[in-house]
Amino acid sequence: MNPLSTPIDLVQPARLLFGRGVAAEAGRWLAGRGVRRPMVVTDAFNAARVGGLELPGEPVVWSDLAGEPTTGDLARVVAAAEASEIDAVVGFGGGSAMDLAKLVAVLAGSGQPFAEVVGAEKVARKGLPLVQVPTTAGTGSEVGTRALVTDVAATAKSAVQSLHMLADLAAVDPDLALGMPRAITVATGVDALAHCVEAYTNRKAHPLIDLYALEGIRLVGRWLARAADDGGDPDARAGMALASLYGGYCLGPVNTAGGHAVSYPLGARYHVAHGAANALIFPHVLAFNAPAVPERTAAILEALGLPVSDDPETVFAAARDWCLRLGCEMRLSAFNVPEADLPAMAREAHAIRRLLDNNPRDLGEADILAIYRAAF
Ligand SMILES: [Fe+2]
Repeated sequence: MNPLSTPIDLVQPARLLFGRGVAAEAGRWLAGRGVRRPMVVTDAFNAARVGGLELPGEPVVWSDLAGEPTTGDLARVVAAAEASEIDAVVGFGGGSAMDLAKLVAVLAGSGQPFAEVVGAEKVARKGLPLVQVPTTAGTGSEVGTRALVTDVAATAKSAVQSLHMLADLAAVDPDLALGMPRAITVATGVDALAHCVEAYTNRKAHPLIDLYALEGIRLVGRWLARAADDGGDPDARAGMALASLYGGYCLGPVNTAGGHAVSYPLGARYHVAHGAANALIFPHVLAFNAPAVPERTAAILEALGLPVSDDPETVFAAARDWCLRLGCEMRLSAFNVPEADLPAMAREAHAIRRLLDNNPRDLGEADILAIYRAAF
C-alpha cells in the first residue's frame, strides 16, 4: 500500500501551550475549571519549584519518586491521592513523573487494579483532569497515551496505553530545563532523537509522522550540543523542547523499533538511565538498518549535520563520533554489565516483539548479541 493512503490514528492533547513562561498557565487553567485540590506528581528536585506552576487552592505535592516508576510507587501515590480527595492531577518532571501522573488520573478512586489496565485500551473511564508539564527535553510523554511501570516482582516493564490518559493540557515551558546538568541534557536529548529516528526508519513510518520525525532530528542536530555546552541558553532549550515534543508525536501512532528494544535490558537489569542506554545503542542499530533504509539513513545523517554515506561502517563511525563529542559513554562495560550476561540480555531484547516487529531490518537474537559484544 502507498504509505500516503495507510490509515493512521493521531491523537494530541486538547490544548497545548509551548514557550517560555507557559508553566504558570497550568495553574490558571486549573483555576478556570474550579479545581481546589490538585495533586502534583513529581520528584524531590522539582517539588522545590512547584510554586512556578501557580496552582490554585491547596495543592498536594507527592514527590516520593526516585528513578523510573515501579508498581510499588504507583500503589503509594494512588493511595495518597485517594486519601487527599484530590480533584486534578499535574505531572511535573521527566517521563517518570508524567507517566505516573497519567495512571493516578485514571486509577485514583476508580477501583480498577493496575493489573487490569496493562495493555491497550483497558482503562474503564476518563478520570480526573490531567495537566502535564515536562521539565526535561526527551520523553515527549506529555503528548502521549502510554505509561511504563516496572513490575518489581517480574523485573519487567508493563505498558499501559489508553486514550483516557491523554493530557487535557500540556504546557511545554523550555525554561524549566535551564541549568539542567550536561549528562541529563545529553541523555534525554538522545532519547528524543531516538524516538524520531526509530519512527522515521520504522516499518510503520507514515508521511504524517515523517514530518515531525525529520524535523525533530534536525532540531537535535542544531541544538543539543549547544544546550549541553551552555546550560543557560534559552534558545537551545527551546529547540530541544520542540524536538522532544515532536518525538512524542512519533511515539503515538508509529512508536520506536530496534534501538529501544535493544536498549531496554540495560535499564531493566542494570538501571542504566533510559537516554544513556539509547545513546550507547543508537549508532549500532542505525548502521545495522542502513542497508534496508539507505535513503532514510542518509536523510538522518544530513539532518544531524553529519557526512552522508550508505556504507554501514561509515554510518556507524559518524554516529558514534557524534555521541562521543556530546560526552556519551559508549562502552557497555562502563555500566558494570557482566560480559557473561550478554546472551541473556539478547534473549530478553529479542522477545520485545511490539518494538522489534517495527524494525526495518529483521534483527535476530544473534544480531543483538553481536551488537552487545561490539558495544562492550
Ligand atoms: Fe525513549
